[in-house]
Amino acid sequence: MKREQLTEFMRRMEPRSVAIVAGAREVTRSNDTHYRFRQDSDFYYLTGFDEPEAIAVISPEAEKPYTLFVRPRDPEKETWDGPRAGVEGAIERYGADAAFPIGDFCMKLQEILQGKRTLYYRLGTDHELDQKIIEEIARMRALGRRGVIPPHTITDTGVILHEMRLIKSESEIALIERAAEITAEAHREAMRAARPGMHEYEVEALIEYMFRRRGATPAYTSIVGSGENATVLHYSANNAAIREGDLLLIDAGAEFQGYAADITRTFPVSGRFNRPQREIYEVVLEAQKACIAMVRPGVSIDELHNRSVELLTEGLVHLGLLQGDLNELIEKEAYKKFYMHRLGHYLGMDVHDVGLYYVDGESRKLEPGMVITVEPGLYVARNQEAKEEYRGIGVRIEDDVLVTAEGHRVLTAGVPKEVEEIEQFIARARVEESSLNRSSFNANPS
Ligand code: GLY
Ligand code: MN
Ligand code: MN
Repeated sequence: MKREQLTEFMRRMEPRSVAIVAGAREVTRSNDTHYRFRQDSDFYYLTGFDEPEAIAVISPEAEKPYTLFVRPRDPEKETWDGPRAGVEGAIERYGADAAFPIGDFCMKLQEILQGKRTLYYRLGTDHELDQKIIEEIARMRALGRRGVIPPHTITDTGVILHEMRLIKSESEIALIERAAEITAEAHREAMRAARPGMHEYEVEALIEYMFRRRGATPAYTSIVGSGENATVLHYSANNAAIREGDLLLIDAGAEFQGYAADITRTFPVSGRFNRPQREIYEVVLEAQKACIAMVRPGVSIDELHNRSVELLTEGLVHLGLLQGDLNELIEKEAYKKFYMHRLGHYLGMDVHDVGLYYVDGESRKLEPGMVITVEPGLYVARNQEAKEEYRGIGVRIEDDVLVTAEGHRVLTAGVPKEVEEIEQFIARARVEESSLNRSSFNANPS
């Protein structure tokens, strides 16, 4: 699968060009400990190689078009950090036409760049490598009289690669579906288990247990916000006690074999929405469903967002949270007090995936193979000037939607979101739990 992606990337490169694509480095957490390693998505997309300190050089017209620079085998280091593919493995297992130790990269850089008109390289992510490449180009310029010629153009690799990544292949869709399935299962489990008296982190732990037991990891820091914490968009402390009557907003997604899902559900921990909660929830839900229904090829992302703005503003007026003429309120962006983010984003290897949102100044139209999130929300902060009964309520509902030739397919439909559906789901879970408790009580009368 990676080989197909590499071949297509090469096909799209300009004549007389070379691409340098760097893997991620390990990131220090503190002292000599690191965060769990996560490969750079562009690099992984092309190579499938999952070790730090690696660089791919792609030169379609060369005798050996695909070279990997990797950490060499090192028995001492491998004792501590685990096995490395090494130079041999890069060729045998990862299909490189040539491979060298990463330490040789600088030495070979002139040879890599020599005589190429275009260098594909994404400046701005690895500053150390940026510096090396810029310095090498400057050095080569000074050697012009000897026939040394550096590339005259540096093009962002993303111009090709991100357009490729934006349109998902069948096998990529299958992985996103799997990530979505795992995520949906975790959200259902959380909806069953969460209740007053627990801490948000207990629910977070349950969600992430459900990811890990399926071989996935969180695709981003999980948000588990109860009560007014749900009104904080990037809440991640997840350390409050959940109270009777709270809504619980969970925004969490699994990453499975490099592909992410991204689901948000908001539900009452006591099992029933109270009236103000339900009123806000239904405004968000109707907007979300209406926007999902619009998803099909040819519709622009701005059209979807604008529709969500119309519906949410209408709802805010209806609830008495905004007063005035609908068009004027939209014009003045009055809704931004309660709806301050966009409707959604591309989803893929990165949760906020790559791809241009505007092309020639116009909002991009959806195409089959794109995956987007649809995630309207309303947030009435506790200290917001607003009707008292709505203060401290935050609701977001988020699904992942694949654009198909015929329209769309919701990949995350497996988690309840209708009001009655949620209430019945929680009620059923409570009944099942209490009958389970009774039967274990009978079995163990002590
Ligand atoms: N969880 C990140 C987002 O919903 O965009
Ligand atoms: Mn999202
Ligand atoms: Mn999300």
